Amino acid sequence: MIIVKTIKEMQHNMKEVKRTGKTIGFVPTMGYLHEGHLSLIERAKQESDFVAVSIFVNPLQFGPNEDFDRYPRNIERDKKLAEEAGADVLFCPDTKEMYPDKPVVTVSVNRRTDALCGKSRIGHFDGVATVLTKLFHIVLPDKAFFGLKDAQQVAVVQGLVDDFNFPIEIVGCETKREADGLAKSSRNVYLTEEERKQAHHLYQSLGKAQGWLSDCDSGETEQKMIKYLEEHTVGTVEYCKVLSYPELLPPEKDDEKLIIALSVRFSKARLIDNVIIDNVLVKQGSGEETCSVH
Ligand code: PAF
Repeated sequence: MIIVKTIKEMQHNMKEVKRTGKTIGFVPTMGYLHEGHLSLIERAKQESDFVAVSIFVNPLQFGPNEDFDRYPRNIERDKKLAEEAGADVLFCPDTKEMYPDKPVVTVSVNRRTDALCGKSRIGHFDGVATVLTKLFHIVLPDKAFFGLKDAQQVAVVQGLVDDFNFPIEIVGCETKREADGLAKSSRNVYLTEEERKQAHHLYQSLGKAQGWLSDCDSGETEQKMIKYLEEHTVGTVEYCKVLSYPELLPPEKDDEKLIIALSVRFSKARLIDNVIIDNVLVKQGSGEETCSVH
């Protein structure tokens, strides 16, 4: 695996790879790789001739009170893991390389952000879209692989690629979970022992919500999820939502897919999780949203 730190060298290498006719799979990350990332690299390996992984903790997507300085970093360990998983090149620029100056232009996301994490993380998805625009131009991938744990991010990135006509296929990959169902995340290391024991209830609540949606509307389902999480964890529930996917709007009967999503803040970590399901809602004559019974 080659390690590249400059944009010039990375772009040059990737153009060479393209010239040989190989397809490029790209896994953008912020490092501190876990099994979720490794499964994205493995999937990229299966679906492309050459795999590029980037590690860059992007300051543009962190708010002033978020964990940019505290975000876990371990580049030596990451190099080993990325290589073992099958990466051919690891691009790990520093902040000065990516942003030598205050950017003249940044990308602003207009839809799919006024819900879930985007609602409280103002500017976060602008930062994600900006850094990915740069990375896509540097790496020149045919396909880019993202974990569906960050389903809102996948919806935004799909919008970016569609609206700006990037010739890139976005591949959303299933969330990797611990044995008890907790979604794998770099931030899980910040859970206390007690919080870690309770954290499987996040995934449990998503399973229960799918059942509740058969008997009650999305609003009631959200309330039941909040109650369940408050009863079973010490965390503070930030949101429990049932929305259309990928638009992230209040669900309508014509939507093909729904997302059930949650965010819970523990003492030192904010955890998110979701499931994307086929729409189970039907509308009755009154226009009221109800549920089909399965
Ligand atoms: O999901 C992440 O780790 C980041 O948001 C990404 C896509 C690497 C952009 O910085």
